[in-house]
This record gives sequence, structure tokens and C-alpha cells, in this order.
Amino acid sequence: MSKVLISYFSKSGNTKKMAESIKEGLNSLGYVQVDLKKVQDTTIKDLRSSDGIVIGSPTYFGVMAKEVKALMDKSVQCYGKLVGKVGGAFTSSGLIGGGNETTIMSILQGFLIHGMIVQGVQKANHYGPVSVGAPNEEVCDECVQYGKMIGELVKRLG
Ligand SMILES: Cc1cc2nc3c(=O)[nH]c(=O)nc-3n(C[C@H](O)[C@H](O)[C@H](O)COP(=O)(O)O)c2cc1C
Repeated sequence: MSKVLISYFSKSGNTKKMAESIKEGLNSLGYVQVDLKKVQDTTIKDLRSSDGIVIGSPTYFGVMAKEVKALMDKSVQCYGKLVGKVGGAFTSSGLIGGGNETTIMSILQGFLIHGMIVQGVQKANHYGPVSVGAPNEEVCDECVQYGKMIGELVKRLG
């Protein structure tokens, strides 16, 4: 069974709620094993053993939080071993123009440098799910759909 890791950092729960909705979408497919972890608990083994990796961070000064960057920096230990895996990113910010897109791009950049395959979005927030403040029903649904897209891509690349 293919495995997708959702790794997130969240201080006040908004990014966590998004991560849980992405998990729900992946689980609904019925053919993906889903691992939901805090970034602080995410290991190199977790990254290496996953076919897809989705990382969520609150927007901090327009980029990922330092806890997420720490995982990204740690991932140099498996540089060359993540090539061809699927990557995705999501964020919660305080403001609509507060740097949520640049935060997602900062995570996706790391994935591209690893040689991973990034799933874009045509019908919703284009770079990955965004919530301004606490995720409402619409955002949660977007996260569910995003989870499904990630899982479907993982399966297609099988
Ligand atoms: C240190 C810090 C920096 C932040 N920087 C930004 C920012 O640049 N832009 C923005 O829109 N919100 C910013 N915020 C607000 C958070 O992104 C927002 O509250 C988010 O929903 C928190 O997610 P969480 O509940 O998962 O912790 C910042 C919050 C903190 C604590």
C-alpha cells in the first residue's frame, strides 16, 4: 500500500485542523496509508518510507515556521533519496495578503530541490490549501479534495 506522510507544525490549531482534513481526504480513497505527524516528531525514516509528503506550516513572516525549516534542513540527510516522490504544502496565515503563498512556495521549493513532484491545484488555491485564520467548512473541504489529489497522483505514479 502506498504511504503518504502529513507533517505539520501548529501553535494555535489552525494548521493542525487543515492537516486532519487532508488526512480525511486521503483516507477516503481507501488505498493509501496515511501517517499524520508533528514536524518535531518527523524522522528521516518517515520521509524516506513515504511515497508522498505533505507539509503544513503557519505563515510566519511570509515563510515557513522555524520548526518546519528545521525538518527541511534535516532532510539534507536523505538528499537524493526523495527523487520522484510526490510533494504538497499548505498553510494558515493571519491575513489574506500576509504571505501565505510565499510560505507554501518556500516549502515546495525544498521539495523541488529534492527532485520531488509537486501537485498544483487548478480549481482552488493554486499552490496548495490556504486558510486565513481558523479553517472554515470551505477550507476544510478544499483540504479534503487536496488530500484526494495527492493520493491519486501517488497511485498514478505507483
Ligand atoms: C511569529 C509569528 C509570525 C507570524 N507572521 C505572520 C505573517 O507574516 N503573515 C500572516 O498573515 N500571519 C502571520 N502570523 C499569524 C499566523 O500565521 C496565524 O495566526 C496562523 O493561523 C497560525 O496557525 P496555527 O493555528 O496553526 O498556529 C504570525 C504568527 C506568529 C506567531
